[in-house]
This record gives sequence, structure tokens and C-alpha cells, in this order.
Amino acid sequence: MALLRKINHILMLLLVVMVCIILYSKVHKKEPRKNETRAGFNPVYERGSHDEAGEDDIPVVICAAEGRMGGTIAAINSLYSNTEANVLFYIVTLRNSLQHVRKWIENSNLKDIKFKIIEFNPLVLRGKVRPDSSRPELLQPLNFVRFYIPLLIHNHEKVIYLDDDVIVQGDIQDLYNTNLKPGHAAAFAADCDLPSTHEMVRSVGMQTTYMGFLDYRKQAVRELGINPSTCSFNPGVFMANITEWKHQRITKQLEKLMQQNVQENLYSSAMAGGVATPPMLIVFHEKYSNINPLWHIRHLGWSPDTRYSEQFLQEARLLHWNGRFKPWDYPCAHIELWERWYIPDPTGTFVLIRPSS
Ligand SMILES: *[C@@H]1O[C@H](CO)[C@@H](O)[C@H](O)[C@H]1NC(C)=O
Ligand SMILES: *[C@@H]1O[C@H](CO)[C@@H](O)[C@H](O)[C@H]1NC(C)=O
Repeated sequence: MALLRKINHILMLLLVVMVCIILYSKVHKKEPRKNETRAGFNPVYERGSHDEAGEDDIPVVICAAEGRMGGTIAAINSLYSNTEANVLFYIVTLRNSLQHVRKWIENSNLKDIKFKIIEFNPLVLRGKVRPDSSRPELLQPLNFVRFYIPLLIHNHEKVIYLDDDVIVQGDIQDLYNTNLKPGHAAAFAADCDLPSTHEMVRSVGMQTTYMGFLDYRKQAVRELGINPSTCSFNPGVFMANITEWKHQRITKQLEKLMQQNVQENLYSSAMAGGVATPPMLIVFHEKYSNINPLWHIRHLGWSPDTRYSEQFLQEARLLHWNGRFKPWDYPCAHIELWERWYIPDPTGTFVLIRPSS
């Protein structure tokens, strides 16, 4: 009898301990990171953005990836140097680069810009990105920041998004003034817009249609009803209306397409457009306005020897080195146009690749 009672006591004790453990883990699971917003954006640092006149600011979103930060800095420098407008930069980066980008800005002639540094939590993308070993750099989580723009910007109706491998030569106010047609949430540059780029595009065998980005052998792609010879557009530079974006639930649509791609592999992986491009092409199909083509002169990174004429490059308001040959690497076409705006890294971490002389 005594033995039975003893076992009973022990069992009772075990039960109490288990209940305690369960309660403890329940309570403590909810605690951490309550403030890391649902979207995975966490404002970490800001300067100048509290000014009264904030409503007149032009918000510009740009990412700063660790290995490409020199690009981000050159883009910001070129934009800032060519406008009188008040620009508020939303610099989005990953946790390990927060301090680096801040030091670079504050220890250079960019120290007077208005900016926010925002941490992006890549966990947001879990289950939405298909691992692709052929070009892992395109899976950089920051490539997907553009999908979540309404979660970044709260005080403005319009926003500009720029890739990190661009140089701005015009006044950003012009791009910001782009008219959106009713029902359009964004404006892009279409891939068949400029006659002067056609020759270059043909010479390097580049795709300029949906066929280059979507795998039309897949039933789900054909069911979209998009003519494969429709001109694609480049989502590396755009102006968006956040109100309309939210209204059409564009972020939700993009996320759904990402998830679908993980399961069904809908996008052609051969093209260099990047994994962030096809969902944008689908969601905005026949639902976008055009920016002035001179605001997105691209393909400068396609090959080190394809070149535009000097006169054309001077007219360009924005140059984009999309493709594999980046201006912080070597070789690269029109490298001198980019390097004008480059600011060396005060921490010495980022160095340009240049031929040793
Ligand atoms: C968390 O968010 C609340 C509400 O936005 C804010 O008042 C509070 O200061 C934040 N706490 C931290 C630790 O950031
Ligand atoms: C943005 O979109 C909303 C909703 O469609 C519209 O009412 C508003 O006029 C648009 N704003 C601009 C600046 O285009």
C-alpha cells in the first residue's frame, strides 16, 4: 500500500511539473520580437525624417546588400546630387549590414541626406522562394523587398523603387511626377519601348517578352492567358501608388505566385531577369503605366562589350547595369559613368575590383 501511494505521489508530481513546463513555454513563446512587424520590416535608425515638411518628401526605396553596397551608395549619391527635391531614402538591409551602411553614409558627403535604415527579416520569405543553384545571387532575400512596399511606407501615397545597380542622372522629381492611369498601381519601363535599345537587345540575344520569363510548357502558365509574345517590363525601377497597390492587394497576389512557383516551378530559370521578375510580370500584366523610357536605360551589365553611344548615354536620366557585369566588378561596360558617383567605403570592407595597374 505504501508503495502504491508513493508511486501515486511521484506521478502527481510529474504531472504538476509537466503542466508547469507547458505553461512556461506558452507564456514565453509569445514574448520575443513582438515589435518586429508582421511584415518583417524593422526600422532601426533614421535621420532627418521627422522634419515638418515630411509630406513633400519623395520616398525612395533602395536595398543595401552586403556584397553590393558600393552600388547602393553610388546610386544614392547620384540621385541626391542631381535633384533639389527633398528625398527620403528608405535603405533596406539585413541585420548584419545595418551598422555598415550607416557608417558609410555618416562618414561621407552623404551625411546630410534624409534616410531611414530598415532591417528586413528574411523569414518572411520562408516557403516562398524556390532554391535555385544556377544563380544563387538572385535569391538574395532583398530582391523581394519590392513586393512589400506598402508595409514600408506609411506617410506617402507614392513611392519610387530603385535597384542598387543604377545611376540617376536626371532630377528624380520628374520620375516621381509620372502619371499613373486610373486603376494602375505602378509605372515601369516596357522592354520594347526604345528603338535605340533594340539593336543592342538583338545583338546579345536578350528576351523582351513574357516567353523569356515564364515556362509556357506548364499548364498553370498557359492558363494565365498571357500571350507569350507580349513585351515584358523591367521591375528594377518603378513608381508606385501605394493606395492603389493596397486596394488591389498586390502584395498578397505576389506572395501567392511565389508559393505557387515553389510547388510548380513556373518560371524559366534560364533568364537573368531574376526570380523577383516573373511574379511582377504576371500581377501587372496589362495593368501598368509607362515611365519615360529615358528613365530606365538598361542592360549595361549584360556584357562588357556592348556599348551605347555617348550621346544616348548623356540623354539618359537613369542607367541600369542589370545583368552579370556589375560596375563594381571588372570588366564592365561604361564603368566610368558609374565610378563618378562611387564613394569609397570608410570602413575599408568594400573594395572595387579593378585591373591592377
Ligand atoms: C513596440 O511597439 C510599440 C507600439 O508601436 C512602441 O510603443 C514600443 O516602443 C515598441 N517597443 C520597442 C522595444 O521597440
Ligand atoms: C492613387 O490611387 C488612389 C486609388 O486608386 C487614387 O484615388 C489616387 O488618386 C491615386 N493617386 C495618385 C497620385 O495617382
